[in-house]
Amino acid sequence: MKDTDTRHLSWDEWDELRRPAPGETDFDRVVAGAISRRGLLGGVLAFGSGAAAMGLGTLKGTTAMAQSSRFAFAPIAAQTDYDVHVPEDYEWGVLVRWGDPLFSDAAEFDAAQGGDPATADRVFGENTDGMELYEIDGAQVIAVNHEYVNETINLPNAPAESGSVVNSEEDATKLMMLQGVTVMEVRDGATGWEVVVDSPYNRRITHQTPMTLSGPAAGTPLMQTVADPSGTEVKGTLNNCGAGRTLWGTYLTCEENFNGYFGSTDPEVEITEGWARYGIGAESRYAYEQYDSRFDISVDPNEPNRHGWIVEIDPSDAQSVPVKHTALGRFKHENAAMVQAADGRIVVYMGDDERGEFLYRFVSNGVWEEGTNGSALLEDGTLSVARFTEDGTGEWLPLTPERTGMEMAEMLVHARMAGSAVGATTMDRPEWVAVNPVAAEAYCALTNNSRREAGATNAGGDAMEPAGPNPRPTNEYGQIVRWRPEGGDHGADTFAWDLFVMAGNPQVYDNEYGGSPNVTPGNMFNSPDGMQFSSDGLLWIQTDGDDSNEGDFAGMGNNQMLVGDPETGEIARFLTGPNGSEVTGLTWSADRTTAFVGIQHPGGSWPGEDGMPPRSSVIWVRRNDGQPIG
Ligand code: FEO
Ligand code: CA
Ligand code: CA
Repeated sequence: MKDTDTRHLSWDEWDELRRPAPGETDFDRVVAGAISRRGLLGGVLAFGSGAAAMGLGTLKGTTAMAQSSRFAFAPIAAQTDYDVHVPEDYEWGVLVRWGDPLFSDAAEFDAAQGGDPATADRVFGENTDGMELYEIDGAQVIAVNHEYVNETINLPNAPAESGSVVNSEEDATKLMMLQGVTVMEVRDGATGWEVVVDSPYNRRITHQTPMTLSGPAAGTPLMQTVADPSGTEVKGTLNNCGAGRTLWGTYLTCEENFNGYFGSTDPEVEITEGWARYGIGAESRYAYEQYDSRFDISVDPNEPNRHGWIVEIDPSDAQSVPVKHTALGRFKHENAAMVQAADGRIVVYMGDDERGEFLYRFVSNGVWEEGTNGSALLEDGTLSVARFTEDGTGEWLPLTPERTGMEMAEMLVHARMAGSAVGATTMDRPEWVAVNPVAAEAYCALTNNSRREAGATNAGGDAMEPAGPNPRPTNEYGQIVRWRPEGGDHGADTFAWDLFVMAGNPQVYDNEYGGSPNVTPGNMFNSPDGMQFSSDGLLWIQTDGDDSNEGDFAGMGNNQMLVGDPETGEIARFLTGPNGSEVTGLTWSADRTTAFVGIQHPGGSWPGEDGMPPRSSVIWVRRNDGQPIG
């Protein structure tokens, strides 16, 4: 392959890349864009001619950089063990594990049966994911997602000969109770942070919790089912992945891979075009349809239309009814990043995490005023999809009946098809979007796309050739794209974009798979996924990638959390998770001295004793000197 590694370029060579001669490749242009900003110059010097030219070892090299950076820690090395690691002068502990009681009437975790089925919705749920902390009348309350389950750990006694771990209605019900959302009060106790058991804020939301539908698709024929002819009341929120917070203090939980919960008791059921686009078929993952006809597409074909939405939850009221907002579109929602447009309208950025799917933006019609409940603003607005062009600019294409040829409810329920109709850019699996609080720019983690290549298409037949912010064929490492809206206004319809980082392995590759100049042997990672900005404008990046530490991933170690500086391009490793885990979900205590971090599906027996099953957990991390960290 062509050598496009730019880390050892002279100034002239680097400058040439900034003003490329004709005949450059797409990747040359992208790298040029990525390094043309004022800021990354610092990164190039520090990473390229600094640490490398001085012959420093990887960890020593990154430590040296940290001394001149905005990072208040010495970066840590990659790890491959079954534990959590944080920088020197920081400490961590476990806040809560799957199965820990939220209420005193729940049984303590019982490894023999994988937790008590009777109180599965009275304990902290499985596979912790996106989360946000709220300060409510002096209490600190965390809302946190439970994305999916680990069947063999949750149902350890399934008969081996059955071929399925779900063998009864009780099994299916237990799994339904372990997923959804937890709302819990937390406090800084004598031995570290802990859950306030029996707090009036504590709540579990599951696959059975009643909620309502809002917006243009609510009540339409597409939403009407056997159990709900009104098409306005739905049970449960499915596959809650990333999260978001509204400006008015509510929680947004995002329904991602909802398709896997639906199946058919009739194996001959005809799969519609709409089902196919969203990956809904006759076979489900958890066999729910065997025990609850709501999940049987041959009985209740519209039930899948009622999932795949952004759901708003009020963490201050454990009796409140969650609302699924149809105006924000139905797709495999990763997270929801809210910001205000210059004129006061509400803007929500959202990724659809599937190969070749799209990046979306919702803009409300009404404006939000400080101190008011803005929930109704999420019922009425314009949904758009992003189109990126090769020259570093892009635009938001509104999804309207006129442009898509689709009626409004159909357009929102099948937003992916509407996006295809207007020519959205196929992306490398858009995960979290994060909006910089101190600069007018937003970032999206494009986690990877093993199938991107000339001639490939997404599920809707849209081309997935390497181009624009998705320049690399067979992209196993991922990248982070950022965009700056025209005039610094997130409500504007055009933007300029570049790549903040192309992940890669510079130990293995001396070409585009080695990554952008701000990737080094000392900070390399793959598959960026979770992202949050801290209040100081630093970008925290979490990974969900290959942690084999072999082959193309040699030297990257376990999944991890890094910090990026948007101004310099520097990236440094802050935390590593146990082998087998994904690091996902990040929020801060009210005084910003503690970061809460999610460790999903760890391996080994983390964080317990030998012989215990591994359990997804939220940990707390803080500086020994008690100073703020975010
Ligand atoms: Fe649930 Fe796309 O991560
Ligand atoms: Ca994710
Ligand atoms: Ca992921």
